[in-house]
Amino acid sequence: MKGALFDLDGVLTDTARYHFTAWKALIQKHFQLELPASLETQTKGVSRQDSLRAILTYLNLDVSASKFAELAAEKNELYKESLATLSSQDILPGITNLLADLKAHQVKVALASASQNGPFILAKLQLTAYFDAIVDPTKVAHGKPAPDIYLTAASALDLAPSDCVGFEDAVAGIAAINSATAVSIGIGSANELKQADKLFASTQDLKYDLIEQVWQAKHLAKN
Ligand code: BG6
Ligand code: MG
Repeated sequence: MKGALFDLDGVLTDTARYHFTAWKALIQKHFQLELPASLETQTKGVSRQDSLRAILTYLNLDVSASKFAELAAEKNELYKESLATLSSQDILPGITNLLADLKAHQVKVALASASQNGPFILAKLQLTAYFDAIVDPTKVAHGKPAPDIYLTAASALDLAPSDCVGFEDAVAGIAAINSATAVSIGIGSANELKQADKLFASTQDLKYDLIEQVWQAKHLAKN
């Protein structure tokens, strides 16, 4: 393993739930409608715009382009309010140790998050220094589940995707890692993330040696 490609929301920190809370508040305010919890899976890992599209389709709502832009901007404001107190205390368990161990083993590290708030959140978590590259999701042609962001992340590290592992908590993210031909590490439940090469229930189980073994096993199986 030469590279580690990280999703952000739900992997480095528990911000995934704040996204959906913001969507729920927005839809309640503008349309007086409740979003079911089951819709969260469809908005995880996908861009702000793709999330809004999925929500409007689910609700059978059609809005003008300007209303769409207004809703997306307002959701981001709501979301950013919930980040006000975010700090290094909010890094998920095991993540700082893992990043430090990856560095110690000269494994390069990149951020492959669909979030345009990625650099802001990394700074708040005081994790920026661990990252050799941060992909700008607005420069990537196709969002997750397409492989583009993981391909771009590997190439930003000057590595082949197959030399990398990717860490994800979302179905769309695991699909993106798999189609990029990197090794996929899922964090979450087996029901949702069955396509992951290896699944961990919690970030605290992510240990460098185990991840290296998962990469080796997949690599040996292929060669
Ligand atoms: C992903 C989240 O990391 O970022 C999605 O899983 C979110 O839920 C996406 O829609 C885009 O985030 P942002 O911060 O650019 O609105
Ligand atoms: Mg995520």
